[in-house]
Amino acid sequence: MALVNFHIVLLFSFSFLNGALSATFTINNNCDYTVWPGILSSAGTDPLSTTGFALASGESKPVAVPASWSGRVWARTLCSSSGPGNFSCSTGDCGTSALECSGSGAAPPATLAEFTLNGSGGLDFYDVSLVDGYNLPVLVVPRGGSGGNCTATGCLMDLNPLCPSDLRVAASSGRGVACRSACEAFGTPEYCCSGEFGNPDTCQPSSYSHFFKNACPRAYSYAYDDSTSTFTCAAADYVITFCPTTTSQKSDQARNNTAAALPLVNDTMVFLGGDEVDDGSAAAPSLTSSAALSASLLLICLLLLRA
Ligand SMILES: *[C@@H]1O[C@H](CO)[C@@H](O)[C@H](O)[C@H]1NC(C)=O
Ligand SMILES: *[C@@H]1O[C@H](CO)[C@@H](O)[C@H](O)[C@H]1NC(C)=O
Ligand SMILES: *[C@@H]1O[C@H](CO)[C@@H](O)[C@H](O)[C@H]1NC(C)=O
Ligand SMILES: *[C@@H]1O[C@H](CO)[C@@H](O)[C@H](O)[C@H]1NC(C)=O
Ligand SMILES: *[C@@H]1O[C@H](CO)[C@@H](O)[C@H](O)[C@H]1NC(C)=O
Repeated sequence: MALVNFHIVLLFSFSFLNGALSATFTINNNCDYTVWPGILSSAGTDPLSTTGFALASGESKPVAVPASWSGRVWARTLCSSSGPGNFSCSTGDCGTSALECSGSGAAPPATLAEFTLNGSGGLDFYDVSLVDGYNLPVLVVPRGGSGGNCTATGCLMDLNPLCPSDLRVAASSGRGVACRSACEAFGTPEYCCSGEFGNPDTCQPSSYSHFFKNACPRAYSYAYDDSTSTFTCAAADYVITFCPTTTSQKSDQARNNTAAALPLVNDTMVFLGGDEVDDGSAAAPSLTSSAALSASLLLICLLLLRA
């Protein structure tokens, strides 16, 4: 009897755990250099098990994400450390002088992957934003979710060589390493959508935001770019890939009929090829990993109870 009770308790605690950890972010580094992802949880949401780590070229790291989490993920580049407590990065630095960002966000310019899980209507809201500028290409692909316009988003192009000279951030070698937003570069209410420009009617896209939007049609190019840049999905896991294009799969033409019909790369930017990426929206497995987890735990518990 005691054994039976123990297994029932076990079953309940696993269901609780399963409810609390609703999603997995799989963070991939497809760049041919190391990146140092940073994760910032929004105020009032649970922190994740990590807030910053190194990810070598070709490496992948799964991160468990609690239900209703909201926050952002980015990558720091060109980091170095000259000793303990002296870690810094040329782009996306979070100012902690350490691997962990511990509640600090990215210094712009940085490409941001933003999430609000289980938001309005139980949907996850996610986007890739260039509102704080750009430092490297990022792709976000939902897996195993449904509902909403549950499809891939991101900015696939390397904008560092293309960045307008007045937005360009260069390393000491002269190589472009990031591209500022017009708001950050010039700080005017017009570009920042603040003051009298603080609403969607008065804050219009600029020639600078057009540069970002043409290259990355699904990414936020300025503050009120919501309609073409916000995506929704329910009960999904997310794959976040830095520098996605080098091994991207060719798109399946049949998969372009989603609510989000914008190309991931604007076809008119022919000089970079028309590479698109597998949305994953049609190929997603029917079981989410958490459903699979609870199914296998249930099976184990039933087997133990019978024994
Ligand atoms: C999603 O949010 C609703 C209310 O905001 C809450 O009742 C529900 O438990 C949440 N779902 C999960 C899986 O946490
Ligand atoms: C940190 O590194 C910088 C540059 O490498 C160096 O100038 C500085 O003295 C170091 N500070 C500490 C506290 O080690
Ligand atoms: C692609 O670029 C062209 C020309 O710059 C522009 O007219 C068009 O709106 C862009 N498409 C998207 C989806 O941004
Ligand atoms: C995706 O759906 C949301 C509502 O669920 C909508 O606000 C947004 O504009 C849609 N995004 C695109 C790119 O169509
Ligand atoms: C999207 O699909 C439609 C019909 O399946 C096709 O006619 C169209 O050319 C496709 N567009 C792109 C950009 O692949």
